[in-house]
Amino acid sequence: MRAPQSGADQVGGERLRGRIAAELARARSRTALLTEAVDDDDLMRQHSPLMSPLVWDLAHVGNQEELWLVRDVGGREPVRCDIDELYDAFKQPRRDRPALPLLPPAEARAYLSTVRDKVHDLLDTVRFTDRPLVADGFAFGMIVQHEQQHDETMLATHQLRSGPAVLHAPPPPEPRLAVGGEVLVPAGEFTMGTDTDPWALDNERPAHRVDLPAYVIDAAPVTNGAYQAFIDDGGYSDPRWWSAAGWEHRVREQLVAPMHWRRDGAGWAYRRFGRWDPVRADEPVVHVCWYEAQAYAAWAGKRLPTEAEWEKAARWDPVTGRSRRYPWGDEDPTEAYANLDQRHLRPAPVGAYPAGASPLGVHQLIGDVWEWTSSTFDGHPGFTAFPYREYSEVFFGDDYRVLRGGSFGTDRSACRGTFRNWDYPIRRQIFSGFRCARDAGPGESGR
Ligand SMILES: [Fe+2]
Repeated sequence: MRAPQSGADQVGGERLRGRIAAELARARSRTALLTEAVDDDDLMRQHSPLMSPLVWDLAHVGNQEELWLVRDVGGREPVRCDIDELYDAFKQPRRDRPALPLLPPAEARAYLSTVRDKVHDLLDTVRFTDRPLVADGFAFGMIVQHEQQHDETMLATHQLRSGPAVLHAPPPPEPRLAVGGEVLVPAGEFTMGTDTDPWALDNERPAHRVDLPAYVIDAAPVTNGAYQAFIDDGGYSDPRWWSAAGWEHRVREQLVAPMHWRRDGAGWAYRRFGRWDPVRADEPVVHVCWYEAQAYAAWAGKRLPTEAEWEKAARWDPVTGRSRRYPWGDEDPTEAYANLDQRHLRPAPVGAYPAGASPLGVHQLIGDVWEWTSSTFDGHPGFTAFPYREYSEVFFGDDYRVLRGGSFGTDRSACRGTFRNWDYPIRRQIFSGFRCARDAGPGESGR
């Protein structure tokens, strides 16, 4: 027999139900925006071998929602088990997806809406028990984040498609503060990862203590202006700055500048979402691969931060000694704190979010551009795969490098001070930038 629910449980459950419904709706309206901005022909087409046709992402989002919520959490009958294989990201490599017998757009949309109806039905009655998949609405949160992550992938596909602009957004705020230079992070322990954020994914857990020597980190992401100095100084033609693998990649792919840049008189122009703009000097550089970031850092006499260094700079509060959820505190992101949620279609200039700085004065860690770190992707000490190995564990190892902090195209539901992203060191179709770090020099440390 079920234990009766207390009044407080009921209130908490209702609040959680409301939050889940709002987050599901927000994700779906973004998916609709990204897939209704182009015609059916465009949705079915592959814009780059790196990406799926948008219509694959669309039905895949619905299929994951069906698998986890309708079938697993709800224990309901399948809506369409005949398409599971088609939309399994592990069975279908991206380059092969356009040749699959994909659901045409109208059918994909109808499928998504049937699944969503069943999820709303389930949400009305589900009890948030201690079962790990439903405690604190975890599986719903995972599906919200999954859809938002695919929306960011779809936004990256939009950046790769040719043709006139179809996405529109106001520009990000202008700088409100002059931000530059470096910040010293004193030696000592801090708490990395989380045990308490209810929708944190398996790779963000568990919380654990990490002791770091003193280091210095850039107060802001590397800007286009700084990056252009590296280009102008012959950075792309000097193997001294590049790792052996990075140099080989640079030569093979003939990289001479960030992706989507072209020469424009004496300067550079940058194509974003179908429009050419002059490269703006005070904006964080975006669309660089890990090898480019590493070469820039070497040229600047620095290095990339480790993942732990990035997270300590973002979360550690020297006054309380505790780690915050975000650089500015524990409060969810708002427009005052960070450039997230695809509100703008570009990174904001450095100094645009003074309210979002960390206690030590490190700016724009969240939003704007994903930041490459020097770290390979691995489990935190004590890692347990949940709810399945394919979420993160199968990606652990030397092949990937960790990116942190989210971009202008990352939704706030899929971005935290602990959130971890990973990709191959050659990838730059993602909204990736970086900042530099270095060991503290003599006289700079101090515990
Ligand atoms: Fe997926």
